Amino acid sequence: MRGFFISVEGIDGAGKSTHVDFISRYLKDKGYEVVTTREPGGTVLGEKIRDLLLHNGQEIHRITELLLMFASRQQLIAELIEPNLAKGVCVIADRFIDASIAYQAYGRGIGREKLDKIISLLEPNYTTDLTFLFDLPLDLAFTRLNKSRQKDRIEQETSSFFANVQNAYQMIAKNEPDRVKVITTNQLKEKTRILLASYLDQLIKKRTAND
Ligand code: TMP
Repeated sequence: MRGFFISVEGIDGAGKSTHVDFISRYLKDKGYEVVTTREPGGTVLGEKIRDLLLHNGQEIHRITELLLMFASRQQLIAELIEPNLAKGVCVIADRFIDASIAYQAYGRGIGREKLDKIISLLEPNYTTDLTFLFDLPLDLAFTRLNKSRQKDRIEQETSSFFANVQNAYQMIAKNEPDRVKVITTNQLKEKTRILLASYLDQLIKKRTAND
């Protein structure tokens, strides 16, 4: 049986990363093997690309940014995602293709058509079994970001950029309600965890029923 492929998404400051550990522990407790990773990054090459993308201090053309995101992604698929899924290990990725749709296609205004072309180049070409979209009102996400550490290149973008990214994420969730589950993060952590657990249980049940 292939492992589950799960991603977490959301605008910067929405608080998604803290939930990766919970998802991983939950699946491990159910007896699954799990690896966690992140995008951009997750491989030696990918982490170098991440550094170029986020911390290089220079202007990056939006298409260059798009290509670098996908270069990192292809390497991650080839080195980590596909080999693990194939041997039955679950992969939890902190961001995947939905991030490029939200940030590059809509945030940067590259458009869906060009995105779809580049998505079609990926080998193998697939999407997640389940994606959690962590959602938070923009002003709260901004307050969190401003309080945290030094901002990287993308975190320094304007609020209208993030509004476009957030709208795009919400549109993806609306179009694919079976795959993408929206989790509002301005609620108690415990409540968020109960929701995450119930969606994970549904995924496990669906897979078991199909096998
Ligand atoms: P992170 O801070 O959540 O690790 O993500 C790194 C940044 O990269 C974040 O600002 C979102 C951005 N990003 C894109 O713009 N496109 C992508 O495809 C991915 C994976 C991330």
